[in-house]
Amino acid sequence: MKRNILLASLIIVAMPALADDGRMIRPVTNALTQSECSACHMAYPAGFLPARSWKKIMTTLEDHFGEDASLDEASRAEIEAYLVANAADAGGRRSGVLRRLDAADTPMRISELPWFRREHSGEVSPRRLKKAGSWANCNVCHRGAEKGYFEDD
Ligand code: HEC
Ligand code: HEC
Repeated sequence: MKRNILLASLIIVAMPALADDGRMIRPVTNALTQSECSACHMAYPAGFLPARSWKKIMTTLEDHFGEDASLDEASRAEIEAYLVANAADAGGRRSGVLRRLDAADTPMRISELPWFRREHSGEVSPRRLKKAGSWANCNVCHRGAEKGYFEDD
């Protein structure tokens, strides 16, 4: 009994700390987001962008990085609601992935966030990046990416 309480409190204490420095992020848990947003790249965890970014992405799908990723309105709305509810700043949370991000900026890419640039600078050779195709292909370098693990590379 006592041990379970201790274990539960350890988990509660440990989770935000990991998510806060951007090292472990909850993978996508919404089935529709997982299926619709993984056709061209991995389905990115909601916790990697602030709500305003997800809103902008989800209202410009017809011109999504040069592709038409538009959806029927019911699916679009469900995915937007899920991403916004689990965003890096959901419920007033200040995840570490928002560090040094100007409140006036609405980034469309995880890979243009200041933490991302700092974390990756000098870590990847031009050859390796070229092989991966682009920074957007997280799962090429981080094999556990779809499960929320980014520590391995
Ligand atoms: C028809 C193909 C397609 C679909 C479907 C699609 N995307 Fe994309 N997405 C792209 C392309 C192309 C890029 C740019 C990739 C690159 O830069 O290499 C991109 C990039 C992104 C990025 C930026 C990644 C980064 O940090 O560089 C985000 C965020 C994103 N998509 C979210 C979504 C979401 C959310 C959905 C589901 C609603 C979705 N995408 C569905 C094609 C698609
Ligand atoms: C070309 C390979 C490559 C791509 C693509 C890439 N990364 Fe990384 N990433 C690395 C390397 C190398 C490191 C530094 C070593 C490490 O900590 O794993 C790193 C570090 C990280 C870290 C910090 C991990 C830690 O424990 O310090 C996170 C989080 C991360 N990447 C997320 C992402 C996300 C999200 C994407 C896609 C939008 C992405 N990466 C795309 C290679 C890549």
